[in-house]
Amino acid sequence: MTDLSSTADAAILDAYRAHYVRTFSAHGPTSRGVDWGAPGDVDMRYGKMLEVLEPDAGVRPSLLDVGCGYGGLLDYADARGIALDYSGVDIVPKMIAHARAKHPSARFEVADALALPDAPVADYVVCNGILTLKLEASILDMDRFARRLIRKMFTLARRGIAFNMMTSHVNFMAPTLYYKNPLEIAAFVSGELSNRFRLDHSYPAYEFTVYVFPARSQP
Ligand SMILES: C[S@@+](CC[C@H](N)C(=O)[O-])C[C@H]1O[C@@H](n2cnc3c(N)ncnc32)[C@H](O)[C@@H]1O
Repeated sequence: MTDLSSTADAAILDAYRAHYVRTFSAHGPTSRGVDWGAPGDVDMRYGKMLEVLEPDAGVRPSLLDVGCGYGGLLDYADARGIALDYSGVDIVPKMIAHARAKHPSARFEVADALALPDAPVADYVVCNGILTLKLEASILDMDRFARRLIRKMFTLARRGIAFNMMTSHVNFMAPTLYYKNPLEIAAFVSGELSNRFRLDHSYPAYEFTVYVFPARSQP
């Protein structure tokens, strides 16, 4: 029998790949090249992702960047002296080629994050800007895709994950973007993943960032 959810996920992935190949060809290693907001928002978002690092994360925590694009998060961390044992995956080969050329000592791979094996690979796993775009996909298919990706990130992380989404608390919705009610995401995360989470809906953008950490065992 055909697995309709994996067919829908494959369609979402194909549409993403075609979209980002186009934007990167047109605009190169910039926020427009990864179709992710105004240039002024870029550093704010990278900063939000790195807020996942806990005070006791150590001197060089490992971090997997899911949908890393051209490696902008690593540029941001390097510029601020934030040492990371960094790896990134993306489905657009030209973005990965750019990232490898710029950061020869980091690990960048062409890969679909959903296809990675279910095992911890890094202390922290972040996803800045995948769960925000739906293009032509239905909301129900995006809901399934988003939950699969969030679950996958949680299995890949030893210490915590961070991801962002567009908030439904807006008075205009672009038809190609994917908006979620933050309370629904909080219910999903706390019900399925861990009750040790934080949701930041306080910064000036039409989005929120969610941080999830493995639950501490009860004494
Ligand atoms: C909005 S861009 C953000 C890029 C980067 N995180 C940044 O902020 O500069 C989203 C990226 O996710 C990648 N992507 C989408 N789905 C993916 C998947 N399933 N696995 C890996 N990468 C994916 C796209 O190719 C695109 O480069």
